[in-house]
Amino acid sequence: MSAPQIQHFYDEPTGTLSYVVIDDQSGHAAVIDGVLGYSMQSGRTDTRSADAMIDHLRQHELSLQWILETHAHADHLSGAQYIKSQLGGQVAIGEGIRNVQAHFAPIYNLDDDFETDGRQFDQLFADGDAFRIGELECAVIATPGHTNDSVSYRIGDAIFVGDSLFMPDFGTARCDFPGGDAGALFDSIQRLLAMPDETQLFMCHDYRPGGRDLRWVCAVAEQRQHNIHVGDGVGKAEFAGMRSKRDAQLDLPALIVPAIQVNIRAGHLPDAEDNGIAYLKTPIDEF
Ligand SMILES: [Fe+2]
Repeated sequence: MSAPQIQHFYDEPTGTLSYVVIDDQSGHAAVIDGVLGYSMQSGRTDTRSADAMIDHLRQHELSLQWILETHAHADHLSGAQYIKSQLGGQVAIGEGIRNVQAHFAPIYNLDDDFETDGRQFDQLFADGDAFRIGELECAVIATPGHTNDSVSYRIGDAIFVGDSLFMPDFGTARCDFPGGDAGALFDSIQRLLAMPDETQLFMCHDYRPGGRDLRWVCAVAEQRQHNIHVGDGVGKAEFAGMRSKRDAQLDLPALIVPAIQVNIRAGHLPDAEDNGIAYLKTPIDEF
């Protein structure tokens, strides 16, 4: 199987890692977890992060085929629709997004014309689905736990794990969002860690504990030996107990309220009202 060429991009304000994955043979590419910047203070979006990816794709004259999301993120707005507006491509996510939409649509009191069947996306993936980036064979691995809709993408010997795992010194993602489940996350991680030792796992975040240099990729063997939450020998009950204790102490992500209402729309901002201005809602006492 041919190997993908992978370029990472780091969005400093949210600690998000996004990727451009390229099939050299055909010049086709995919973007994974692109970011649209957003300021809570001003309500202003900014496209710097996404533009860096778009520039890279244009410079290398790549044809963007897929805009992949590993899940509906709570910590940043998806850049999917902005990127699509510039370069085309199909926006895809796991089919569990329907459950996330069904949970949050009433909280944001979205219009009746907001359907909770995932139609805002171009493609919904189920576990085991296969697709291609040019000639590269790609497979979808459902990895629920952090969220219900979380998926990982296996492309050659690389797996993009979303928020299922972080670098070994940071462990794993929280499981206390609606639809999150620590036991399910443990099981999902076991599937990832059962891959061959040398399999390269690409993270969606790095928070650089202790101020260390940025890292974004880690072999299965290193995760198995050194992950502080799920390294060899840690059982499911122990993990779930640790996770719920830790999650109870975490603040919500700064952008959770705007992020979820944009991300369940596949990265579409709300339509402008009759004055030509678009608004994001803040439900009071719901988060
Ligand atoms: Fe996440």
